[in-house]
Amino acid sequence: MLRLAIQKSGRLSDDSLNLIRECGISFVNSSLKLKTESTNFPLEILFLRDDDIPGYVADGVADIGIVGENVLVEEGKQELVVERLGFSKCRLSLAVPKGTDYTSLQDLQGKSIATSYPNLLQAYLQEQGVEAHIHTISGSVEIAPSIGLADAICDIVSSGSTLISNGLREVERIFKSEAVLISNSNLSEEKKEILAKLMFRVHAVQRAQK
Ligand code: PRP
Ligand code: ZN
Ligand code: MG
Repeated sequence: MLRLAIQKSGRLSDDSLNLIRECGISFVNSSLKLKTESTNFPLEILFLRDDDIPGYVADGVADIGIVGENVLVEEGKQELVVERLGFSKCRLSLAVPKGTDYTSLQDLQGKSIATSYPNLLQAYLQEQGVEAHIHTISGSVEIAPSIGLADAICDIVSSGSTLISNGLREVERIFKSEAVLISNSNLSEEKKEILAKLMFRVHAVQRAQK
């Protein structure tokens, strides 16, 4: 039995479940159960917070996982990637309140920026030679400017509707991301065989979509 970790609720959840279903893998899914077993393939599915998935896969608590590259790179675990999946595309962007004057990144010099991606943001600011105070929070980042917590935010943008709903304007795109399949590096032979069968089906699904 191979253990797959996917996001419990969020941008990747539906796309991840759809991929598994398109692979012909059946399972019963209730929104309250955090673990389910396939009825026709040796796969167990764990529903977790996306931020926890790279760590669980690295530690072998889960064998494989589907997660956004954004989370993976932030946590410095790129070496776990097996394959890019081509869905749940998004970007990590800087945004400011829509009334704020902004002409270049220099405008954020000395300002405070709220984000759940301090490492990616710090690397970008450093490369661009801008110093700002990074305020790390784990969620609802888009609310930060309106409650006086920060001057700007750095968060994931997909459709852009969360930004608009919170009166924010995207000003810089700093990282492009999509869903990736990750794997623990010490899988047993048996688990490697199951993963190979799964990947065979994933590739067939991807080919059919082209
Ligand atoms: C991101 C981000 C916003 C949303 C933006 O969350 O934090 O909540 O997506 O999407 P939109 O541009 O389509 O409105 P994500 O799903 O990455 O998960 P999270 O709950 O772990 O932040
Ligand atoms: Zn998250
Ligand atoms: Mg979010």
